[in-house]
Amino acid sequence: MAESSFPAGADWARRAEQVIPGGLNSFSRYLGEPYGFARSSGAYVWDFDGNRYVDYHAAFGAIVLGHNDPDVDRAVAGALNPVDLVGIGITRPEVELAELVCAAIPSADQMICCTSGSEATFHAVRLSRAVTGRDLIVKVQGGYHGWHDAVARNVISPPELAYGMDPMSAGILPENLSSTLIAEFNDLTSLEELYTRHQDRIAAVIVEPIPHNVGALLPNPGHLEGLRKLTEAQGSLLIFDEVITGFRHALGGWQEISGVTPDLTSFGKAMGNGHPIAGLAGKAEHLRHFNSAGGSVLLAGTFTGHPTGCAAAVATITKLRDAEVFAHTAALGQRMRDGLTGIVDELGVPAQVRGYGSVFCLYFLEGEINGYRDLMRNDDVRYREFHRRMTDRGFLMLPMSLKRNHISFAHTEEDVDRTLDAAREVLRTLP
Ligand SMILES: Cc1ncc(COP(=O)(O)O)c(C=O)c1O
Repeated sequence: MAESSFPAGADWARRAEQVIPGGLNSFSRYLGEPYGFARSSGAYVWDFDGNRYVDYHAAFGAIVLGHNDPDVDRAVAGALNPVDLVGIGITRPEVELAELVCAAIPSADQMICCTSGSEATFHAVRLSRAVTGRDLIVKVQGGYHGWHDAVARNVISPPELAYGMDPMSAGILPENLSSTLIAEFNDLTSLEELYTRHQDRIAAVIVEPIPHNVGALLPNPGHLEGLRKLTEAQGSLLIFDEVITGFRHALGGWQEISGVTPDLTSFGKAMGNGHPIAGLAGKAEHLRHFNSAGGSVLLAGTFTGHPTGCAAAVATITKLRDAEVFAHTAALGQRMRDGLTGIVDELGVPAQVRGYGSVFCLYFLEGEINGYRDLMRNDDVRYREFHRRMTDRGFLMLPMSLKRNHISFAHTEEDVDRTLDAAREVLRTLP
Protein backbone atom coordinates (compact mmCIF):
# COMPACT_ATOMS: atom_id res chain seq x y z
CA MET A 1 0.00 0.00 0.00
CA ALA A 2 2.86 2.41 0.77
CA GLU A 3 3.28 4.41 -2.38
CA SER A 4 4.04 7.85 -1.04
CA SER A 5 7.25 9.79 -1.01
CA PHE A 6 6.29 11.35 2.33
CA PRO A 7 8.45 10.40 5.29
CA ALA A 8 6.97 7.59 7.33
CA GLY A 9 4.56 8.41 10.15
CA ALA A 10 7.02 7.26 12.78
CA ASP A 11 9.50 9.95 11.74
CA TRP A 12 6.88 12.68 11.93
CA ALA A 13 5.78 11.35 15.32
CA ARG A 14 9.33 11.54 16.63
CA ARG A 15 9.81 15.07 15.29
CA ALA A 16 6.42 16.25 16.60
CA GLU A 17 7.07 14.89 20.07
CA GLN A 18 10.26 16.98 20.31
CA VAL A 19 8.57 20.29 19.70
CA ILE A 20 4.83 19.90 20.44
CA PRO A 21 3.66 18.67 23.86
CA GLY A 22 2.77 15.01 23.42
CA GLY A 23 3.27 15.49 19.68
CA LEU A 24 -0.34 16.64 19.23
CA ASN A 25 -2.17 19.96 19.19
CA SER A 26 -5.26 18.59 20.94
CA PHE A 27 -5.63 15.86 23.55
CA SER A 28 -8.41 14.24 21.54
CA ARG A 29 -6.28 13.70 18.43
CA TYR A 30 -4.48 10.64 19.74
CA LEU A 31 -5.08 7.69 17.47
CA GLY A 32 -2.05 5.44 17.99
CA GLU A 33 -1.28 4.23 14.48
CA PRO A 34 -1.49 5.86 12.01
CA TYR A 35 0.11 8.86 13.64
CA GLY A 36 -0.90 11.52 11.19
CA PHE A 37 -2.00 12.43 7.71
CA ALA A 38 -0.36 13.85 4.63
CA ARG A 39 -3.17 14.20 2.14
CA SER A 40 -6.95 14.60 1.91
CA SER A 41 -9.48 14.63 -0.90
CA GLY A 42 -13.25 14.11 -0.94
CA ALA A 43 -14.21 11.25 1.36
CA TYR A 44 -10.62 10.09 1.85
CA VAL A 45 -7.47 10.86 3.80
CA TRP A 46 -4.02 9.32 3.38
CA ASP A 47 -1.59 8.73 6.23
CA PHE A 48 2.10 9.63 6.08
CA ASP A 49 2.85 6.23 4.61
CA GLY A 50 0.37 6.57 1.77
CA ASN A 51 -2.41 4.34 3.13
CA ARG A 52 -5.90 5.53 2.24
CA TYR A 53 -8.83 5.73 4.68
CA VAL A 54 -12.51 6.41 4.16
CA ASP A 55 -12.93 9.31 6.57
CA TYR A 56 -15.91 9.35 8.91
CA HIS A 57 -14.04 11.26 11.60
CA ALA A 58 -14.30 14.28 9.30
CA ALA A 59 -12.33 16.54 11.65
CA PHE A 60 -14.91 16.03 14.40
CA GLY A 61 -17.66 16.85 11.92
CA ALA A 62 -16.18 19.99 10.39
CA ILE A 63 -16.00 18.39 6.94
CA VAL A 64 -19.53 18.34 5.52
CA LEU A 65 -18.99 18.67 1.77
CA GLY A 66 -15.88 16.49 1.64
CA HIS A 67 -12.20 17.30 2.00
CA ASN A 68 -10.82 20.00 -0.30
CA ASP A 69 -14.17 20.81 -1.84
CA PRO A 70 -13.13 22.65 -5.02
CA ASP A 71 -15.62 25.53 -4.58
CA VAL A 72 -14.58 26.14 -0.99
CA ASP A 73 -10.88 25.85 -1.83
CA ARG A 74 -11.32 28.31 -4.70
CA ALA A 75 -13.13 30.78 -2.44
CA VAL A 76 -10.40 30.54 0.19
CA ALA A 77 -7.63 30.94 -2.39
CA GLY A 78 -9.26 34.11 -3.65
CA ALA A 79 -10.24 35.46 -0.25
CA LEU A 80 -7.31 37.80 0.25
CA ASN A 81 -7.80 39.59 -3.03
CA PRO A 82 -8.69 42.48 -3.28
CA VAL A 83 -8.45 42.97 0.49
CA ASP A 84 -6.93 40.83 3.23
CA LEU A 85 -7.21 41.41 7.00
CA VAL A 86 -7.45 45.12 7.76
CA GLY A 87 -8.72 44.83 11.30
CA ILE A 88 -10.82 47.98 11.33
CA GLY A 89 -14.22 48.56 9.86
CA ILE A 90 -15.90 45.77 7.95
CA THR A 91 -15.21 43.75 4.80
CA ARG A 92 -17.60 42.25 2.27
CA PRO A 93 -17.28 38.57 3.24
CA GLU A 94 -18.26 39.31 6.85
CA VAL A 95 -21.47 40.98 5.75
CA GLU A 96 -22.27 38.34 3.14
CA LEU A 97 -21.74 35.61 5.71
CA ALA A 98 -23.94 37.26 8.33
CA GLU A 99 -26.70 37.73 5.75
CA LEU A 100 -26.56 34.05 4.79
CA VAL A 101 -26.58 32.88 8.40
CA CYS A 102 -29.43 35.18 9.45
CA ALA A 103 -31.44 33.98 6.46
CA ALA A 104 -30.76 30.33 7.32
CA ILE A 105 -31.11 30.10 11.10
CA PRO A 106 -34.68 30.64 12.36
CA SER A 107 -33.73 32.40 15.61
CA ALA A 108 -30.99 34.59 14.10
CA ASP A 109 -31.66 38.30 13.73
CA GLN A 110 -27.94 39.00 13.92
CA MET A 111 -24.66 37.17 14.35
CA ILE A 112 -21.08 37.76 15.46
CA CYS A 113 -18.13 35.94 13.93
CA CYS A 114 -15.37 34.15 15.77
CA THR A 115 -12.85 31.47 14.89
CA SER A 116 -13.82 28.47 17.01
CA GLY A 117 -16.83 26.90 18.65
CA SER A 118 -15.27 27.48 22.08
CA GLU A 119 -15.19 31.22 21.46
CA ALA A 120 -18.81 31.13 20.36
CA THR A 121 -19.98 29.39 23.54
CA PHE A 122 -17.74 31.62 25.65
CA HIS A 123 -19.53 34.67 24.25
CA ALA A 124 -22.90 32.96 24.70
CA VAL A 125 -22.27 32.34 28.39
CA ARG A 126 -20.91 35.79 29.14
CA LEU A 127 -23.67 37.51 27.18
CA SER A 128 -26.32 35.49 29.04
CA ARG A 129 -24.89 36.58 32.37
CA ALA A 130 -24.83 40.19 31.28
CA VAL A 131 -28.37 40.12 29.86
CA THR A 132 -29.95 38.43 32.87
CA GLY A 133 -27.73 39.80 35.65
CA ARG A 134 -27.47 36.21 36.98
CA ASP A 135 -24.38 34.12 37.71
CA LEU A 136 -25.08 30.41 37.15
CA ILE A 137 -25.38 28.36 33.99
CA VAL A 138 -26.62 24.82 33.39
CA LYS A 139 -25.23 22.20 31.02
CA VAL A 140 -26.09 18.54 30.72
CA GLN A 141 -23.88 15.66 31.71
CA GLY A 142 -22.20 14.54 28.48
CA GLY A 143 -22.54 17.88 26.69
CA TYR A 144 -19.34 19.44 25.37
CA HIS A 145 -19.19 23.13 24.60
CA GLY A 146 -15.46 23.79 24.28
CA TRP A 147 -12.39 24.14 26.44
CA HIS A 148 -13.09 27.32 28.44
CA ASP A 149 -13.59 27.41 32.20
CA ALA A 150 -17.38 27.82 32.28
CA VAL A 151 -18.12 24.64 30.35
CA ALA A 152 -15.11 22.32 30.60
CA ARG A 153 -16.63 19.85 33.02
CA ASN A 154 -18.72 16.67 33.05
CA VAL A 155 -18.46 15.44 29.50
CA ILE A 156 -17.51 11.76 29.29
CA SER A 157 -17.32 11.26 33.04
CA PRO A 158 -16.58 7.96 34.75
CA PRO A 159 -19.58 6.71 36.75
CA GLU A 160 -18.05 7.79 40.07
CA LEU A 161 -17.77 11.43 38.87
CA ALA A 162 -20.79 11.71 36.57
CA TYR A 163 -23.26 14.40 37.74
CA GLY A 164 -20.73 15.40 40.44
CA MET A 165 -17.62 17.53 39.95
CA ASP A 166 -15.66 16.30 36.96
CA PRO A 167 -13.46 19.09 35.55
CA MET A 168 -11.78 18.39 32.23
CA SER A 169 -8.73 20.35 33.25
CA ALA A 170 -6.58 21.38 36.16
CA GLY A 171 -6.17 25.11 36.64
CA ILE A 172 -9.85 26.09 36.60
CA LEU A 173 -10.88 28.17 39.61
CA PRO A 174 -13.33 26.28 41.86
CA GLU A 175 -15.77 29.19 41.69
CA ASN A 176 -15.86 28.88 37.90
CA LEU A 177 -16.53 25.16 38.08
CA SER A 178 -19.25 25.51 40.69
CA SER A 179 -20.97 28.25 38.70
CA THR A 180 -21.92 25.59 36.19
CA LEU A 181 -24.65 23.17 37.23
CA ILE A 182 -25.26 19.75 35.73
CA ALA A 183 -28.62 18.40 34.54
CA GLU A 184 -29.59 15.25 32.61
CA PHE A 185 -30.61 15.32 28.95
CA ASN A 186 -34.19 14.22 28.27
CA ASP A 187 -35.04 14.77 31.93
CA LEU A 188 -36.77 18.09 32.63
CA THR A 189 -37.18 17.18 36.29
CA SER A 190 -33.41 17.39 36.77
CA LEU A 191 -33.54 20.98 35.50
CA GLU A 192 -36.62 21.85 37.56
CA GLU A 193 -34.74 20.71 40.66
CA LEU A 194 -31.87 23.05 39.83
CA TYR A 195 -34.29 25.94 39.44
CA THR A 196 -35.82 25.13 42.82
CA ARG A 197 -32.41 25.03 44.48
CA HIS A 198 -31.02 28.15 42.76
CA GLN A 199 -33.98 30.52 42.46
CA ASP A 200 -33.41 33.51 40.17
CA ARG A 201 -29.74 32.67 39.70
CA ILE A 202 -29.64 30.67 36.45
CA ALA A 203 -28.59 32.90 33.55
CA ALA A 204 -28.75 30.26 30.84
CA VAL A 205 -29.15 26.63 29.94
CA ILE A 206 -26.69 25.56 27.25
CA VAL A 207 -27.43 22.36 25.40
CA GLU A 208 -26.52 20.55 22.22
CA PRO A 209 -30.00 19.83 20.83
CA ILE A 210 -28.66 16.37 20.02
CA PRO A 211 -25.80 15.70 22.44
CA HIS A 212 -23.43 14.42 19.74
CA ASN A 213 -20.45 14.59 22.04
CA VAL A 214 -21.71 11.37 23.53
CA GLY A 215 -22.77 9.90 20.19
CA ALA A 216 -26.34 10.73 19.30
CA LEU A 217 -28.78 11.13 22.18
CA LEU A 218 -31.92 12.07 20.29
CA PRO A 219 -34.29 14.43 22.11
CA ASN A 220 -37.47 12.66 23.22
CA PRO A 221 -40.68 14.19 21.87
CA GLY A 222 -41.44 17.35 23.83
CA HIS A 223 -38.07 17.59 25.55
CA LEU A 224 -36.73 20.62 23.69
CA GLU A 225 -40.16 22.25 23.79
CA GLY A 226 -40.14 21.68 27.55
CA LEU A 227 -36.68 23.22 27.85
CA ARG A 228 -37.88 26.24 25.91
CA LYS A 229 -40.95 26.71 28.14
CA LEU A 230 -39.10 26.20 31.39
CA THR A 231 -36.20 28.53 30.60
CA GLU A 232 -38.60 31.21 29.44
CA ALA A 233 -40.77 30.89 32.54
CA GLN A 234 -37.69 31.11 34.75
CA GLY A 235 -36.20 34.13 32.99
CA SER A 236 -33.11 32.30 31.71
CA LEU A 237 -31.76 32.29 28.18
CA LEU A 238 -31.79 29.05 26.21
CA ILE A 239 -28.56 28.50 24.26
CA PHE A 240 -28.56 25.86 21.54
CA ASP A 241 -25.00 24.83 20.92
CA GLU A 242 -25.33 23.85 17.27
CA VAL A 243 -21.58 23.59 16.67
CA ILE A 244 -22.19 20.02 15.43
CA THR A 245 -25.85 20.00 14.41
CA GLY A 246 -25.71 23.39 12.67
CA PHE A 247 -25.14 23.23 8.90
CA ARG A 248 -24.93 19.45 9.20
CA HIS A 249 -28.47 18.27 9.86
CA ALA A 250 -30.16 21.15 8.04
CA LEU A 251 -29.23 24.59 6.81
CA GLY A 252 -31.09 26.07 9.77
CA GLY A 253 -29.73 23.52 12.23
CA TRP A 254 -31.76 21.44 14.64
CA GLN A 255 -33.97 24.44 15.42
CA GLU A 256 -35.25 24.31 11.85
CA ILE A 257 -36.03 20.60 12.20
CA SER A 258 -37.54 20.75 15.69
CA GLY A 259 -39.27 24.09 15.38
CA VAL A 260 -37.90 25.07 18.80
CA THR A 261 -36.09 28.39 18.74
CA PRO A 262 -33.47 29.24 21.33
CA ASP A 263 -32.38 32.72 22.38
CA LEU A 264 -28.78 32.22 21.31
CA THR A 265 -27.17 29.75 18.92
CA SER A 266 -23.49 28.88 18.67
CA PHE A 267 -22.20 27.24 15.51
CA GLY A 268 -18.87 26.40 13.88
CA LYS A 269 -17.42 23.19 12.45
CA ALA A 270 -19.41 22.37 9.29
CA MET A 271 -20.20 25.98 8.41
CA GLY A 272 -16.73 26.44 6.89
CA ASN A 273 -16.15 22.86 5.70
CA GLY A 274 -12.99 22.61 7.79
CA HIS A 275 -11.86 26.23 7.89
CA PRO A 276 -11.57 28.12 11.17
CA ILE A 277 -14.82 30.01 11.37
CA ALA A 278 -17.62 30.01 13.96
CA GLY A 279 -20.28 32.33 15.21
CA LEU A 280 -22.97 33.21 17.69
CA ALA A 281 -26.40 34.26 16.49
CA GLY A 282 -29.53 35.37 18.25
CA LYS A 283 -32.14 37.97 18.75
CA ALA A 284 -31.11 41.57 18.18
CA GLU A 285 -32.43 42.44 21.65
CA HIS A 286 -29.68 40.24 23.13
CA LEU A 287 -26.85 40.83 20.65
CA ARG A 288 -27.18 44.60 21.04
CA HIS A 289 -25.59 44.13 24.48
CA PHE A 290 -22.20 43.73 22.76
CA ASN A 291 -20.10 46.86 23.04
CA SER A 292 -19.78 46.97 19.25
CA ALA A 293 -23.45 48.03 19.40
CA GLY A 294 -23.04 50.38 22.35
CA GLY A 295 -23.71 47.73 25.02
CA SER A 296 -21.42 46.64 27.83
CA VAL A 297 -20.32 43.12 26.79
CA LEU A 298 -16.85 42.97 25.31
CA LEU A 299 -16.61 41.92 21.69
CA ALA A 300 -13.05 41.79 20.40
CA GLY A 301 -10.60 39.67 18.41
CA THR A 302 -7.89 40.44 15.88
CA PHE A 303 -8.96 37.60 13.61
CA THR A 304 -12.75 37.72 14.01
CA GLY A 305 -14.40 37.89 10.62
CA HIS A 306 -11.14 36.94 8.90
CA PRO A 307 -11.60 36.91 5.12
CA THR A 308 -10.48 33.31 4.56
CA GLY A 309 -12.83 31.85 7.17
CA CYS A 310 -15.73 34.01 6.00
CA ALA A 311 -15.08 33.13 2.35
CA ALA A 312 -14.99 29.42 3.24
CA ALA A 313 -18.28 29.74 5.10
CA VAL A 314 -19.98 31.74 2.36
CA ALA A 315 -18.94 29.10 -0.21
CA THR A 316 -19.98 26.21 2.07
CA ILE A 317 -23.36 27.65 3.04
CA THR A 318 -24.07 28.59 -0.58
CA LYS A 319 -23.53 24.93 -1.54
CA LEU A 320 -25.60 23.72 1.40
CA ARG A 321 -28.56 25.75 0.13
CA ASP A 322 -28.90 23.07 -2.54
CA ALA A 323 -31.25 20.54 -0.91
CA GLU A 324 -29.47 17.75 -2.79
CA VAL A 325 -26.55 17.96 -0.35
CA PHE A 326 -28.65 17.12 2.72
CA ALA A 327 -30.69 14.57 0.77
CA HIS A 328 -27.50 12.74 -0.28
CA THR A 329 -25.83 12.75 3.14
CA ALA A 330 -29.05 11.77 4.92
CA ALA A 331 -29.68 8.90 2.48
CA LEU A 332 -26.17 7.57 3.01
CA GLY A 333 -26.56 8.01 6.76
CA GLN A 334 -29.75 5.96 6.69
CA ARG A 335 -28.04 3.31 4.54
CA MET A 336 -25.22 3.11 7.07
CA ARG A 337 -27.51 2.98 10.12
CA ASP A 338 -29.82 0.39 8.55
CA GLY A 339 -26.84 -1.66 7.39
CA LEU A 340 -25.14 -1.63 10.80
CA THR A 341 -28.42 -2.40 12.58
CA GLY A 342 -28.93 -5.38 10.25
CA ILE A 343 -25.43 -6.65 11.00
CA VAL A 344 -25.65 -6.38 14.79
CA ASP A 345 -29.08 -8.06 14.72
CA GLU A 346 -27.89 -10.83 12.39
CA LEU A 347 -24.78 -11.51 14.48
CA GLY A 348 -26.51 -11.04 17.83
CA VAL A 349 -23.98 -8.40 18.93
CA PRO A 350 -25.16 -6.53 22.05
CA ALA A 351 -24.95 -3.14 20.34
CA GLN A 352 -27.27 -0.43 19.04
CA VAL A 353 -26.99 2.02 16.20
CA ARG A 354 -28.03 5.64 16.65
CA GLY A 355 -27.76 8.85 14.69
CA TYR A 356 -29.56 11.28 12.50
CA GLY A 357 -29.03 12.50 8.94
CA SER A 358 -25.37 12.13 8.08
CA VAL A 359 -24.37 11.02 11.58
CA PHE A 360 -24.11 7.47 12.90
CA CYS A 361 -22.72 5.83 15.99
CA LEU A 362 -22.51 2.39 17.46
CA TYR A 363 -23.15 1.94 21.16
CA PHE A 364 -22.06 -1.33 22.69
CA LEU A 365 -24.92 -1.56 25.14
CA GLU A 366 -28.45 -2.91 25.43
CA GLY A 367 -31.66 -1.38 26.75
CA GLU A 368 -33.10 2.11 26.60
CA ILE A 369 -30.97 5.11 25.72
CA ASN A 370 -32.29 8.47 26.91
CA GLY A 371 -29.52 10.21 28.76
CA TYR A 372 -25.92 9.90 29.90
CA ARG A 373 -26.95 7.60 32.74
CA ASP A 374 -27.82 4.95 30.13
CA LEU A 375 -24.55 5.44 28.26
CA MET A 376 -22.54 4.48 31.31
CA ARG A 377 -23.40 0.86 30.43
CA ASN A 378 -21.43 1.18 27.17
CA ASP A 379 -18.64 -1.35 26.71
CA ASP A 380 -15.68 0.95 25.96
CA VAL A 381 -13.22 -1.89 25.57
CA ARG A 382 -15.28 -3.46 22.80
CA TYR A 383 -15.75 -0.13 21.07
CA ARG A 384 -12.02 0.55 21.09
CA GLU A 385 -11.31 -2.88 19.62
CA PHE A 386 -13.98 -2.30 16.95
CA HIS A 387 -12.43 1.07 16.16
CA ARG A 388 -8.89 -0.31 15.94
CA ARG A 389 -9.90 -3.10 13.59
CA MET A 390 -11.89 -0.71 11.35
CA THR A 391 -8.90 1.65 11.20
CA ASP A 392 -6.63 -1.25 10.24
CA ARG A 393 -9.02 -1.98 7.36
CA GLY A 394 -8.96 1.63 6.13
CA PHE A 395 -12.07 3.13 7.76
CA LEU A 396 -11.44 6.09 10.00
CA MET A 397 -13.92 6.71 12.82
CA LEU A 398 -13.73 8.63 16.08
CA PRO A 399 -11.31 6.85 18.38
CA MET A 400 -13.27 7.62 21.57
CA SER A 401 -16.26 5.44 22.35
CA LEU A 402 -19.49 7.43 22.84
CA LYS A 403 -18.61 9.64 19.89
CA ARG A 404 -20.27 9.89 16.52
CA ASN A 405 -19.16 9.53 12.89
CA HIS A 406 -19.94 11.79 9.96
CA ILE A 407 -20.79 11.25 6.32
CA SER A 408 -19.99 14.02 3.86
CA PHE A 409 -21.40 14.98 0.46
CA ALA A 410 -18.31 13.37 -1.10
CA HIS A 411 -19.06 9.88 0.30
CA THR A 412 -20.69 7.38 -2.03
CA GLU A 413 -22.96 4.35 -1.66
CA GLU A 414 -19.94 2.24 -2.50
CA ASP A 415 -17.98 3.77 0.41
CA VAL A 416 -20.84 2.94 2.74
CA ASP A 417 -21.24 -0.61 1.44
CA ARG A 418 -17.52 -1.31 1.75
CA THR A 419 -17.67 0.06 5.30
CA LEU A 420 -20.56 -2.28 6.09
CA ASP A 421 -18.67 -5.28 4.66
CA ALA A 422 -15.69 -4.44 6.87
CA ALA A 423 -17.93 -3.86 9.91
CA ARG A 424 -19.58 -7.27 9.40
CA GLU A 425 -16.18 -8.97 9.33
CA VAL A 426 -14.97 -7.05 12.40
CA LEU A 427 -18.15 -7.54 14.45
CA ARG A 428 -18.28 -11.25 13.64
CA THR A 429 -14.90 -11.83 15.28
CA LEU A 430 -14.96 -9.17 17.98
CA PRO A 431 -14.12 -10.69 21.37
C1 LIG B 1 -21.09 21.00 20.52
C2 LIG B 1 -19.73 21.65 20.55
N1 LIG B 1 -19.63 22.90 21.01
C3 LIG B 1 -18.45 23.55 21.03
C4 LIG B 1 -17.30 22.92 20.61
C5 LIG B 1 -16.00 23.64 20.64
O1 LIG B 1 -15.63 23.97 19.34
P1 LIG B 1 -14.11 24.20 18.95
O2 LIG B 1 -13.40 22.90 19.08
O3 LIG B 1 -14.17 24.71 17.54
O4 LIG B 1 -13.57 25.22 19.90
C6 LIG B 1 -17.36 21.61 20.13
C7 LIG B 1 -16.16 20.92 19.67
O5 LIG B 1 -16.11 19.72 19.52
C8 LIG B 1 -18.62 20.96 20.11
O6 LIG B 1 -18.74 19.69 19.69
